[in-house]
Amino acid sequence: MAKREKIGIVGSGFIGRSWAMLFASVGYEVCLYDIKQEQVPDAINEIKKQLHELESSNLLRGNISVAEQIKCIRGVTNLKDCVVGSKHVQECVFEDVDLKKEVFKKLDELVGPNTVLSSSTSCIIPSLISPDLVHKENFIVSHPINPPYHVPLVEIVPAPWTRKDVVARTRALMAEIGQSPVVFTREHPGFGVNRLQYAILNECNHLVRSGVVTAEDVDTIMKDGLGMRYAWMGPLETALLNANGMKDYLERYADTIKNISETLEGKASWDYKDCGDLVSQLDEMVPLDKLQNRREWRDKRLAALGKLKRDAKEW
Ligand code: NAI
Repeated sequence: MAKREKIGIVGSGFIGRSWAMLFASVGYEVCLYDIKQEQVPDAINEIKKQLHELESSNLLRGNISVAEQIKCIRGVTNLKDCVVGSKHVQECVFEDVDLKKEVFKKLDELVGPNTVLSSSTSCIIPSLISPDLVHKENFIVSHPINPPYHVPLVEIVPAPWTRKDVVARTRALMAEIGQSPVVFTREHPGFGVNRLQYAILNECNHLVRSGVVTAEDVDTIMKDGLGMRYAWMGPLETALLNANGMKDYLERYADTIKNISETLEGKASWDYKDCGDLVSQLDEMVPLDKLQNRREWRDKRLAALGKLKRDAKEW
C-alpha cells in the first residue's frame, strides 16, 4: 500500500533514479526533480522500463506491486514542489562542493524543521556542505554505492552538528527500504568505502605498473578470489575463519602481514601520464563503445546476487 509520506529527490541521474525506485518500493510518494527539466520524463520512463524488467525477472524489490510502485513516482518541474512537505530530501546532483552548497541553501529556505536534508555525496565531508544552513542540525550524508538498487550499503555520515534523532531516523528509513546502513560516529575523508576502494586501487596500480601481472589478471584476482568471499562476509570475518578465530589468525599470520606490508608502496601516481599502460590495457579489455552493455550486464548479475543474498538464510 502506498504511504502518505513524501520523499524529494533532487537530481535525476544514475543515483537519483535508483533512489527513486528504492523509496517507491515500499510505497513512499517520490517526487523527482532535475535542473534539466526535459530529462525528468526520460528518467521516469527509464525507471518504469527497469521496474517492469525487474518484475519479469522476479528481481523486483519492495512489498507492493510494480503498478503501485510506478504510481508512487512523479516528476516535478520545480524544487519547491519536490521538497515542501517531504520527510526526507535526497540530493543527487553533480559531485561539486559549491553546487551542493548552493542546492542545500535553496532547500534550506523551502523546508521546515521536520525534513531531513540528505546528500548522496561520495567524498565531500558533511561539514563542508552544511555549515551555513539554518536547518544544519537536519543535514546528513547518506552515501549509496552504485548502483544503489542492487548494492544495499549506505554510509550514513553526520556533520558535527547533526542531531542524534536525525541520524536514527535516516538509519531507520534506509533499513525500511531494504538497504544496509552503516552509521559513522563522525565524518572522515572518503568515509569507509572509498578509503578501502582507494587502498585497493593503489595496489592494483602498482601491480600493473610493475608488470608483475596484467590489468585483466588484477581484476581476476579480485573477482574470482577475494571478491567471491567478500560478497558474503567482510575481510575481518574472512581472516578469522582462515584460522581458529582472530587471536589464532594473528598468532599465525601477524609476521606475514607485517613482512608483506613492508613491501607495499602506498599511494601510487594517478596522473594520466603515468598510467598509460593501465589505461590502454583496460581500454582493450572493455572497449569504450561497450561500456553501456557491460553496465547492463553488471546490473543484471548484481540483481541476481542481491536476490541470492536476500534469500539466503542468515545464520
Ligand atoms: P549524474 O551526473 O548521473 O546526475 C546528476 C544530475 O544532477 C544530472 O541529471 C543533473 O542535471 C542534475 N543537476 C545538476 N545540478 C542540479 C541542480 N542545481 N538541481 C537539480 N539537479 C541538478 O550523477 P550521479 O552519478 O547520479 O551522482 C550524483 C551524486 O551521487 C554525486 O554526488 C555522486 O558523487 C554521488 N554518487 C555517485 C555514485 C556513482 O557511482 N555514480 C555512487 C555514489 C554516490
